[in-house]
Amino acid sequence: MAALLEVENLKTYFKVDHGLVKAVDGVSYYINEREIVGLVGESGCGKSVSQLSVMQLIPTPPGRIEAGKIHFEGRDLLQYEAKGPEMRSIRGAKISMVFQEPMTSLNPVLTIGRQLTESLELHLGMEPIKARERAAELLSLVAIPDGANRLDDYPHQFSGGMRQRVMIAMALSCNPRIIIADEPTTALDVTTQAQLLELMKDMVSRFNASLVIVTHNLGVVARYAQRLYVMYAGRIVESGTSKELFGNPRHPYTIALLKCVPRLDEEEGTKLVPIVGMPPNLVNMPGTCAFRPRCPYQVERCHNDPWPELRLIDGQHYVSCYVET
Ligand SMILES: Nc1ncnc2c1ncn2[C@@H]1O[C@H](COP(=O)(O)OP(=O)(O)OP(=O)(O)O)[C@@H](O)[C@H]1O
Ligand SMILES: [Mg+2]
Repeated sequence: MAALLEVENLKTYFKVDHGLVKAVDGVSYYINEREIVGLVGESGCGKSVSQLSVMQLIPTPPGRIEAGKIHFEGRDLLQYEAKGPEMRSIRGAKISMVFQEPMTSLNPVLTIGRQLTESLELHLGMEPIKARERAAELLSLVAIPDGANRLDDYPHQFSGGMRQRVMIAMALSCNPRIIIADEPTTALDVTTQAQLLELMKDMVSRFNASLVIVTHNLGVVARYAQRLYVMYAGRIVESGTSKELFGNPRHPYTIALLKCVPRLDEEEGTKLVPIVGMPPNLVNMPGTCAFRPRCPYQVERCHNDPWPELRLIDGQHYVSCYVET
């Protein structure tokens, strides 16, 4: 069965004063229908840029999608102009995104109701009265109490968690095939985080959609995603089912990531180990494995050979590392 979305060898670079930032450098991944996939990695590794590339929301200049294919519903999205009618009919409608910071993605001078009805009218051609009814329904679906009476409120009249619920309602409004949730919960307390992830999981199953959860917290996605992609310095370094990655992490970076998240199945008193060193500067990368300077398993060839390609180890489990960890 063909995947719902398949990204092939995506490269997105930014030209800045001090050089070329290879934010996404040859990333391939896929999402099946009704699947929940996690994209995990430290700050700055290219998670958001990879997802914004799919939506063609990269600021150009300084950014540019240099190469790749994005297969969706039998078409390559990169054949379309970012501002053209095809992308406009896909973005927000067939593929929608929940952004990290709701205050910057909600319009502060428009009521929540208007922000919800706008896309219903635009993409689904609903009459204003119908759209308003649907907007109220959507707010109830995401468990905003008394949704119908909150339509005329402005974003600042909602709490942070509620604003995220509104964003989820917006992302769902046009019955998308895929929702990309880019760190949707980082600014919230853990209880609210868990509630929102549960809500998203529920909603995508109800709407028969697929979900990409972007996060730096491997612990968060493990409960929700069927498959995971671990990203480092613009590349995928390990991928597989959540079970494969948790049960048998093989890339030294994944191993390190797992050591720095609390796990319920571990004995009390087990120490969390932070990853030593810093992620690399993505300008003028050396061409060898970018994790090598931080890697406790490194061997001779890691210094000389090019960054290893992903290789299949077992099942659906791929890793890009020369060392047998
Ligand atoms: N508009 C831009 N101009 C220049 N460089 C950019 C731009 N947007 C992103 N980058 C660079 O691309 C790289 C990847 O950034 P990205 O936002 O994808 O990281 P991320 O993995 O989403 O991190 P975080 O977890 O902090 O959200 C970073 O080095 C960043 O500085
Ligand atoms: Mg990001």
